[in-house]
Amino acid sequence: MSDAQKFIDANLGRFRQELYEFLRIPSISAKSEHDGDMRSAANWFRDRLQAAGLEAEVRDTPGHPVVLGRWNGAGDDAPTVLIYGHYDVQPPEPLDEWVSPPFEPTERDGRVYARGSADDKGQLYMHVKALEAHLATAGSLPINVIVLAEGEEEVGSENLVPFVKQHVDELACDYVIISDSNMFAENMPSVLFSLRGLAYLEIHVKGARSDLHSGQFGGTVVNPGNVLGKIIASLHDESGRVAVEGFYEDVLAWDEETRERIRSLPFSPDEYRRELEVDALGGEAGFDVLERLWIRPTCDVNGILCGYTGEGAKTVLPNKAMAKVSFRLVPDQTPARVAALVRAHVAKVAPSGVTIEVVELHGGRPWRTNVEGKLVDAASAALEAAFGTPAVLQGEGGSIPIVVDFEEQLGASALLVGFGLPGCNLHAPNEWFALDAFEKGIGALAGLYENLGA
Ligand code: BES
Ligand code: MN
Ligand code: MN
Repeated sequence: MSDAQKFIDANLGRFRQELYEFLRIPSISAKSEHDGDMRSAANWFRDRLQAAGLEAEVRDTPGHPVVLGRWNGAGDDAPTVLIYGHYDVQPPEPLDEWVSPPFEPTERDGRVYARGSADDKGQLYMHVKALEAHLATAGSLPINVIVLAEGEEEVGSENLVPFVKQHVDELACDYVIISDSNMFAENMPSVLFSLRGLAYLEIHVKGARSDLHSGQFGGTVVNPGNVLGKIIASLHDESGRVAVEGFYEDVLAWDEETRERIRSLPFSPDEYRRELEVDALGGEAGFDVLERLWIRPTCDVNGILCGYTGEGAKTVLPNKAMAKVSFRLVPDQTPARVAALVRAHVAKVAPSGVTIEVVELHGGRPWRTNVEGKLVDAASAALEAAFGTPAVLQGEGGSIPIVVDFEEQLGASALLVGFGLPGCNLHAPNEWFALDAFEKGIGALAGLYENLGA
């Protein structure tokens, strides 16, 4: 066993307690009432980087701050690795569905339950501890390191894109490593070959000057609620394909090797269905579940606002309706092109008598990578050594908007190696992180740095 691994084993209890301090800070980026907590979380993380032996500082942006850490002692011949993660978390609501409070980390059944435990504080902190293990035992790292933790990933990373552009020299690196995703299954570590992108839109429908009596006016004015329903229904065809003209034009047909790799993974659609407590699965005809999840684009309503939804019946014609609709994108779709296509589609479907507005909220481009090469090899070997079982390659349906910008701006390849588990309730009540994955993952990351430096 390496000295770094011995150090990790001997200090795991302390690592956990430190993580729980991090998890107690309600760093919810979406809510301005938590701006102070965002600052506290950034300061806390900076202090932990310094305690591990890195230089670190909090840098302001027009939004929430970025924390930058650095260790440059490995010399010019060693590669420089940028480790990216986010210290912001999603809002915890609905609160009454949490078994233990979201910002009081609680251990149950080998898991720690807390908002941000898996997404992404737990995974981000694993890197700090892996770095500490090397620095504490060898007094040095096998690689040069930049740590970049942002506070706006969950709200679209809008200020990080310009930050990266403005600091290209300072952030120059050979590789970007990100732990903000899941393993394929319990004790099945994985490396990602793709992430989907995102185009998130609001569709607003506006009708008459005000709400109206539905008897006095019904049948003579166009109802924005009816129109919104029609627009939403027009977004898919009978086979589950997105019915927006041009939507599939930029969709890449994946190579047979990748599709074969996906099919070879141990996966039961039936178990997946049962775990979700539904009597059937949905989606695009002609593709398996994992293909639908990873390499095919989607369109989904995220929320609808319209009319009277209180107790009992109120006879009213609402004068406005709104839907939040997101599209998960795959290579080579772009958020801007998809938004333009949806705009044109909605204009075609909507009747006169209402006005329509399509507003673009955040977006992110899809990412995919070449799985042959030093980076994935180094990760696979380190994962296998730590978990005692070979790593698999998998895609991912979620999005991390900054990944493509990193690769373009810094000319570095990204490695996505995550330690959450598929059922870990990201963005939902009772988010958890497996303590076993936390422990083994720290060893895997320490080994990964070693392999990259060799
Ligand atoms: N860590 C997730 C991305 C993710 C989700 C990876 C599920 C693996 C499995 C990330 O924090 C996230 O939630 N991203 C958002 C992006 C959005 C806010 C721009 C997403 O995918 O919805
Ligand atoms: Mn995340
Ligand atoms: Mn998230």
